[in-house]
Amino acid sequence: MTVDKGKFITVEGGEGAGKSSNLAFIRDLLEQSGVEVVFTREPGGTALGEEIRDLLLGHKHTGMAKDTELMLMFAARAEHLARIILPALNAGKWVLCDRFTDASYAYQGGGRGIEMARIRALEEWVQQGLKPDLTLLLDLPIETGLDRAGQRSEPDRFEVEQHAFFERVRSAYLDIARRDSQRVRVIDAAVPLAQVQAQIRLLMDRFVQVQRHG
Ligand code: TMP
Repeated sequence: MTVDKGKFITVEGGEGAGKSSNLAFIRDLLEQSGVEVVFTREPGGTALGEEIRDLLLGHKHTGMAKDTELMLMFAARAEHLARIILPALNAGKWVLCDRFTDASYAYQGGGRGIEMARIRALEEWVQQGLKPDLTLLLDLPIETGLDRAGQRSEPDRFEVEQHAFFERVRSAYLDIARRDSQRVRVIDAAVPLAQVQAQIRLLMDRFVQVQRHG
C-alpha cells in the first residue's frame, strides 16, 4: 500500500499578529475536515530544538553573532526535519508548523541584514528541496502588532529589538509573499479576530478541497 505524502503548512507573522490563536483555529479546521495533524513550532519542536530555542530567545547570550543565530536556527531545523517533520509527512500526516524558514529570511535576512544567498545555501543544505505546501502570513502594521504584543509577558531576545528591525522583518516577509505568491498567502491580521478567521477559513477550505479532488 502506498500512503500519500502529507501536506506541510506553516504560519508566519510579526509580533502581535495573533499567531497562537490563529494556529489553534487552523488546527481545529483541519481536524474537523478529518486530517491527522502534527502541530509543532520553530525554533523548537524537538527536545534538542527546544534547548536551542532557549539559547536563541533567552537573554544569556544577548550579543550573539548574527551568523551564530542563523546557524542555530538551522541546527534546530535539521533536527526538527529529521525527527518530526519528515517522518510525519512520509506517514501521510499533515504538519502544521508555527514558523519555518521564511522566518530566517525575514528575521536573520531582513532584520539582521544577513545576505539572502547565505540563507539560501543553508536552506538547500538542510531541506534538500523540501518547502511548505502552504504558508499563511499574518500581516499587520508594526505599531498595531507591538501594541498588542506589549500587553503580554517579559520580552524575549527578539522582542526587545527596535521599531526599524520589525519594519525590515515585515518588508522581507512581504517580499517573499510577492515572489512566491502561489505558496505564501497574505492574511490581513489588523482586522478583528473574527474577520481574520473568516479569511483563514476560506483559504483553508479551498486548500483542503484541492488536495482531495485535485
Ligand atoms: P515566537 O514563538 O514568538 O514565534 O518566537 C520565535 C522567535 O524566533 C520570533 O521572534 C522569530 C524568531 N525566529 C527567527 O528569528 N528565525 C527563525 O528562523 C525562526 C523560526 C524564528
